[in-house]
Amino acid sequence: MKPRPWHDRRGLTDISTQTLSHVYPIGSRVDDRGHLLIGGCDAVELAAQFGTPAYIVAEDDLRARARAYVGGFSALYGDCDVLFASKAFPCTAVYRVLAEEGLSCDVASGGELALALRGGFDPARVYLHGNAKSLDEMRFALESGVGHIVLDSLHDAERLERVAAELGVTQEVLIRVTPDVSGETHAAISTGQANSKFGFGLADAPAAIERIADSPHLRLVGLHCHIGSQLLALEPFTRAVAALAALGDFDVYNFGGGLGVAYQQSQEPPSIADYVATLVGAAKAAVGPGKRLLIEPGRSLVANSTVTLYTVETVKRNVSTWVAVDGGMSDNLRPMLYGSKYEVAIASRMPGFGPARQPNYELCQLAGKHCESGDVIARDVLLDDPQPGEIVVTPATGAYGYAMSNNYNGVPRAPVVFCKDGNARVVVRRETYDDLSRRDVE
Ligand code: LLP
Repeated sequence: MKPRPWHDRRGLTDISTQTLSHVYPIGSRVDDRGHLLIGGCDAVELAAQFGTPAYIVAEDDLRARARAYVGGFSALYGDCDVLFASKAFPCTAVYRVLAEEGLSCDVASGGELALALRGGFDPARVYLHGNAKSLDEMRFALESGVGHIVLDSLHDAERLERVAAELGVTQEVLIRVTPDVSGETHAAISTGQANSKFGFGLADAPAAIERIADSPHLRLVGLHCHIGSQLLALEPFTRAVAALAALGDFDVYNFGGGLGVAYQQSQEPPSIADYVATLVGAAKAAVGPGKRLLIEPGRSLVANSTVTLYTVETVKRNVSTWVAVDGGMSDNLRPMLYGSKYEVAIASRMPGFGPARQPNYELCQLAGKHCESGDVIARDVLLDDPQPGEIVVTPATGAYGYAMSNNYNGVPRAPVVFCKDGNARVVVRRETYDDLSRRDVE
């Protein structure tokens, strides 16, 4: 059977007819006035009720993708587990939903571990990563009963041994390997190449395996790799699996995350089903039977579940047309860090929907409110006569948006609002000006 493209929702959901670009959350619609609806909630009303900027999450989308991962993987391979790479959206409510959906959790720091526990993850199903774990983070992990720690260097292993000895425990560990495989993506988020700050290189891995396998306080159960993020081709994953398998026979292989998503309608990433089928196929060919296989998706679980709403504050025309909104690099750093592109639409007049009108499209720069020229959320986007006070939407902001949000220029961080069946609930409130000085010591 020919695999269906990833945006084909059959089997993923029966929520409603998808009428928009597949970049928007599953179940998004446009009503007959041309208003965008996320999880059954009118984006314009959400903006009025909760203010802007705001991250709007379609809860059903999160759950549908989680089910596609868990169901798709376990249908093809019995002993498997899907770990939520929680750096992508480290928000308690998101942890909670994904714990409910039966996932395990990847945390990259003590802070993410604290959030994962708060969100309801069983510590035994948590995996702690990091190339520079502190002794305090290690102690916290061991005292919490974290199931696995992924070792990144010999110093990391020595330090964990010390902490485990101190606490009188034996800790199960995986070794992170850099398989010298890189896919096509932005250099800042490519991690599989030999010259990476992460993991053991292929040349050093055998000695590290031998050394760590001998440790009295560590129990080496398997290998891990993560070759990079926002990868739109599957072939590098196959090579990484083979490279990992060549390092020896282990009980557990963790192939990391990295599946790319569509930020723009023209992008057609592989489906979750094709991705897991590729990994399982490669693993079956390269490792013996009876293994436990793990994957760690972040972006592809959460990115398209969320849109960001902004209010247009000003429109200025000089060489370009600058449509300036009330957020920017404080709620979405990705355009500045990686040159990432986002779609933009006016949420009350979704293009191609609503009452017939003669559009007046203009090439615009969607500018943020921050004091840097580089703070442009989307360049060269066509907007139909944008006016101050109107709500604009950028879809596909669920991954690494909230995660990398910040207070530059003293801008309070945006709330997270979950929408489902026409009901909206705030799961993270907007920061206040008081929050900005909350840590001051007078
Ligand atoms: N596992 C490990 C060990 C990772 O380092 C990462 C991401 C993942 C899993 C999840 O990868 P994903 O499925 O999300 O591609 N801030 C950047 C992305 C950094 C990714 C870091 N590691 C961005 O906004 O594009």
